[in-house]
Amino acid sequence: MNKYGVILAAGKGTRMRSLDVNKSKVAFEILGKPLVGYVLDSLSYAEVDNTVVITGFGREETEKIVGDRAKCAEQKEINGTAKAVEAASGYLSGKEGTTIVMCGDTPLIRGETVKELFDYHIKNGNDMTVATMILSNPTGYGRILRSGDDEIVAIREHKDCAPNELAINEVNSGLYIFNNKLLFEYLSEIEPNNAQHEYYLTDIVTIFKNHKNKIGAFVVEDAEEMSGINDRKQLAYAAKVLQNRINDKWMLNGVTIQDPRSTYIGPEVTIEPDTIIAPNTSILGNSKVGKGNIVGPNSYLLNAVIGDNNKVLSSWLTDFTCGNENEIGPYTKTRAGTVLENNCRVGNFVELKDAHFHNGVKCAHLTYIGDAEVGDKTNIGCGTITANYDGFNKTRTSIGKECFVGSGTIMVAPINLEDQTFTAAGSTITKDVKTDTMAIARARQVDLEHGYTTFRAKAKAKKEAALAEKAGK
Ligand code: UD1
Ligand code: MG
Repeated sequence: MNKYGVILAAGKGTRMRSLDVNKSKVAFEILGKPLVGYVLDSLSYAEVDNTVVITGFGREETEKIVGDRAKCAEQKEINGTAKAVEAASGYLSGKEGTTIVMCGDTPLIRGETVKELFDYHIKNGNDMTVATMILSNPTGYGRILRSGDDEIVAIREHKDCAPNELAINEVNSGLYIFNNKLLFEYLSEIEPNNAQHEYYLTDIVTIFKNHKNKIGAFVVEDAEEMSGINDRKQLAYAAKVLQNRINDKWMLNGVTIQDPRSTYIGPEVTIEPDTIIAPNTSILGNSKVGKGNIVGPNSYLLNAVIGDNNKVLSSWLTDFTCGNENEIGPYTKTRAGTVLENNCRVGNFVELKDAHFHNGVKCAHLTYIGDAEVGDKTNIGCGTITANYDGFNKTRTSIGKECFVGSGTIMVAPINLEDQTFTAAGSTITKDVKTDTMAIARARQVDLEHGYTTFRAKAKAKKEAALAEKAGK
């Protein structure tokens, strides 16, 4: 059976109060993923093959986010949810199949629930199924009107309800499943006869009824799943729910999360068992974390691929890859494709940019290594710098195997230190260094006899003269 999806995402999102006039509401992100991305995920889970996202306000941004995951169709005039669905008719009308219609601002709907709804719709042989929910405070929602024999006969918008209808607490969630052909056939029968003079999709219930088609209602148990996002408070609330869901999943899979409240894991991230995540840690983007690692406290990983049994303490790793048994941090920053193989030690206040460390490299403190390759078992002393930028060009540094880069070395790139070379502490290296060489590039020390007392006596006399001159004025 063909399953189609229509995601309504043309509305303005006024209550988000963004200063960016081109910002579409469904482009707001939770854990690094736009809201409409979560909705598309739930449809992929339910194997919906063909989805059309209805765009309007912020169209270009929405189209960019949707990319090739779905088609986009523009609703030129924002005049109601029925007209929004109609905008998909170019792609869907006349086709045999089943169509789900949902809103782009409801990221909490689970794929499992979407699947369950399809199954319910098909099992009951319905032509239309409305997902409803029971709310203690139904204010603002469309109310579900049922006949004496409990059949759903209409949805009445809050603004159009009579006082006795306002007391109904079963409401329309805004998610529906339709016989696709009938949906697009009946849309044209909808008239804007209501308080807002809009074309309401909800009026289609009565039209299905009049055509003697079968309508069902599916009461979604967890109403929270259906909640939409209209303002930034609701955005933060939904973010909490998703954060908890993701953390729960990994904890049940064998990952220790010491403080779930301060741990933020992106929806695409994977983590293997026996990794420990210490407090105040974010792991986002396409990060993949192996087993037996300690990550955190206070670490931020974005697109970081970590092998097994590493320590990543209080560090900031972006676009990073490492093998096994490395010790990183506290206070290490890596970026732009840095790679550590195995058994490396990168310590505090070390920044690595597009650097490749082979096995067992040590770089323990206060160092910047950028655009560089470092061979097996090389030791990089404290306070070392690769000078890789001349104001216009970035150039590379290559350091071989088993080298000893003395503390405070500056390597002016492009430069090559062959295997087993030594640089003396405090050297500024500007020429390539050959194997089994020690490069010393600093002035030789001069010892002045009695220099201590001579220098201090001069300095003292200078200060006393200055004070005397001041007193004389
Ligand atoms: C709608 C339902 C209401 C239901 C509620 C659940 C209608 C008429 N009412 O009301 O019964 O209880 O959802 O949240 O459908 N949109 C467009 N184009 C438009 C208008 C809206 O794409 O011309 C999109 C919006 O961006 C939004 C969705 O459709 O994602 C729902 O529209 P909204 O105006 O929020 O409808 P509600 O008043 O919430
Ligand atoms: Mg709404």
